[in-house]
Amino acid sequence: MPLTPDSALDLLFPEELVPQHIKDQLPPELHIRPLASTDYGRGHLSVLAVLTQTPDVGAEAWASQFRAMLSESGTYYILVVVSRETDQIVGSGGVFVERKFLRGLGRVGHIEDIAVAREMQGKKLGLRIIQALTQISEDVGCYKTILNCNENNVAFYEKCGYEKREVEMAKYA
Ligand code: ACO
Repeated sequence: MPLTPDSALDLLFPEELVPQHIKDQLPPELHIRPLASTDYGRGHLSVLAVLTQTPDVGAEAWASQFRAMLSESGTYYILVVVSRETDQIVGSGGVFVERKFLRGLGRVGHIEDIAVAREMQGKKLGLRIIQALTQISEDVGCYKTILNCNENNVAFYEKCGYEKREVEMAKYA
């Protein structure tokens, strides 16, 4: 199935926030856009499965999560890279905007869940997703953009312009 145009989709955030220069740098067979309400059917969860356990929650639960994110206006910015030929998702990533009281009611962008389908890795898609998310984070007013990753991905994020700062601590339930 060929690419569904953005105009026919219900998108998580305005398409105009996706930087044009990132669109221009993608290979011509790929398209980058905000997550859409029907992306469950385009393999969104399969792509995320390269990152961590991502059980198939079903279309209805997926759509309900999408609506919950959509209702938190100005908070969730999730991008997907879609094949123009198959209309399937081959990459995804998001930035979550946290509101603060400090720094004059500042905002921080948290980059989360960056995933590129195995067969598409190494083609600069991860880099483009991070560049686009960082730009969106800055465009919506974040004074910094941060992320957590494992040691294996440090070199990747350094190539995306990020540097090691501070220490992550975690407590899993
Ligand atoms: N170690 C060292 N260098 C790397 C790595 C790595 N793990 N991954 C990519 N690079 C380098 C590439 O060689 C390239 O370098 P170059 O510019 O010198 O050629 C540059 O980083 C850009 O690489 P991309 O081609 O954009 O990387 P890709 O599209 O494969 O995406 C990603 C990288 C997202 C890590 C992908 O491999 C992936 O989905 N991995 C599995 C899931 C994962 O680990 N996601 C990140 C979790 S952390 C988080 O979500 C905040």
